[in-house]
Amino acid sequence: MTSIIKQIQNRKTFAIISHPDAGKTTLTEKLLLFGGAIQVAGAVKSNKIRKTTTSDFLEIEKQRGISVTTSVMNFEYNGVKINLLDTPGHKDFAEDTYRTLTAVDSVILVIDCVKGVEEQTEKLMNVCRMRNTPVIVFINKLDREGRYPVELLDEIEHKLKIKVRPLSWPVGIGISFRGVYNIFQNSFSFFRANKQKIEKDVETFKGSTDPQLKELLGEDAIKLNEELNLVNGIYGDFKIEDYLKGNLAPVFFGSALNNFGVKELLDTFIKIAPGPQGRETTKGFIEPTHNNFSGFVFKIHANLDPKHRDRIAFLRVCSGKFERNKFFYHVRLNREFKFANPASFMAQDKSLIEEAYPGDVIGLYDSGNFKIGDTLSEGEQFMFKGIPTFSPEIFRELQLFDPFKSKQLEKGIMQLTDEGLAQLFIQNNRKVVGTVGELQFEVIQYRLLNEYGADCRFRHLNYIKACWVKFDNKEDIAELQRLRSHNLFYDKHDELVFMAESEYQLNAAKEKNPKAKFLFSIEHNTETVQMEKVV
Ligand code: G4P
Repeated sequence: MTSIIKQIQNRKTFAIISHPDAGKTTLTEKLLLFGGAIQVAGAVKSNKIRKTTTSDFLEIEKQRGISVTTSVMNFEYNGVKINLLDTPGHKDFAEDTYRTLTAVDSVILVIDCVKGVEEQTEKLMNVCRMRNTPVIVFINKLDREGRYPVELLDEIEHKLKIKVRPLSWPVGIGISFRGVYNIFQNSFSFFRANKQKIEKDVETFKGSTDPQLKELLGEDAIKLNEELNLVNGIYGDFKIEDYLKGNLAPVFFGSALNNFGVKELLDTFIKIAPGPQGRETTKGFIEPTHNNFSGFVFKIHANLDPKHRDRIAFLRVCSGKFERNKFFYHVRLNREFKFANPASFMAQDKSLIEEAYPGDVIGLYDSGNFKIGDTLSEGEQFMFKGIPTFSPEIFRELQLFDPFKSKQLEKGIMQLTDEGLAQLFIQNNRKVVGTVGELQFEVIQYRLLNEYGADCRFRHLNYIKACWVKFDNKEDIAELQRLRSHNLFYDKHDELVFMAESEYQLNAAKEKNPKAKFLFSIEHNTETVQMEKVV
């Protein structure tokens, strides 16, 4: 057990998140350079799906293929094992990102200093807030003519609804950018544009009033001191507990492209970021130090090799020790499985692992036994909670061209939705697919045809939201059943769902059925499934 505790203390598992183009991929790569995991810039391919038109589907698949190996990376820095989970940049895969966030213990949020807080940044932060995930903010692209630091900090506090505490402070911006003062360590680094090499040493001065620093910075030194006094006055002392509770975000400034401010970020990250945390289950909270192994699947990547219908289930280890070739218990299927080829990932490479510890993410080859949210344990009967399903935004009815292929369609759509590619809503024989982006429909249509032999098309529907309806008695939804039965569907877990065609219709349904609850997100593992169908 002591060796497991040592492994736990030595790990940090986090994700980098941002609005597309803020610099997530660049920062990821620079962190890997600092960690010595890669030797040259350019080794990590962007996880972004750049093109989104129909004819590009194969290109999308190719890019998804690249992203699987980059989606989990681990490296060591100053003796700490760091697991970095990459998230898809494309907004159509936002749901994938939300799920990945359930598997990390903290995040680094990248913001472009020119653009400030963008739409996707706000959405991601809302997801972090659901689990009080500790957030460090990295304000990137200081070599560009960006907005004033104070203005950016105000915007972060206001739009992201989190208090901030700058731990570094820039001198100048864009063309007049001179460098960054590290408030946490009282050191100053001069900015040098440098896209390839990494410099591990920073010039250190004795505080911001060091005469040598004054001489080098000239007029800017006076301004820096004034601003630091102001910053310390406004933001007060940095309290690590507030950061760990998810109430306060430390902020760093830099330029990922120029390897600037990245080392300070990483040094502070390994000092303050939380190690592997416990997780809530249907039978109470499981600490990472819990004796037995447990973990949950948060992502499934399919189609690695279309000939073999290969899938990898990504599992976050939550407690105990995972071992290769040992039998573990698949709670939902009530069956034991052992894994001969569990993998860990690094940039473009996969490697076989013998064991894994809390905080680690491993890839398990799967022939269709896993669904997102599944729990593996050492015989214990509990399911991990906290993997939410959100209401999709686009809905289409799935229609089959050849009626003799309905079995293939059934199997295909069940498997694809188990992977979390889209959600399925059922009303008698009707199948409605809901997604957050257009791209998924292309992916589904292509994969149903190529992997399952089912040629389908999608019919546009006007629904705007899917709301899960919770009720105690059938009478609570009597009005809904009477007037809106054509809007009522079931999801794959047999949960009742109201498909709203407009905000007006949704509000009217809520008013007329005041005892029912209408939810925009649901955690399937927490709720007892309503087995008895009401429509
Ligand atoms: P993302 O993963 O968040 O979508 O962003 P990514 O790292 O791909 O960066 C988006 C663009 O911003 C890239 O330029 C990248 O080079 C640039 N960038 C990242 N960090 C900095 C920075 O500190 N300063 C400046 N000036 N630019 C930065 P691109 O032209 O879109 O792509 P590429 O051709 O350089 O790959």
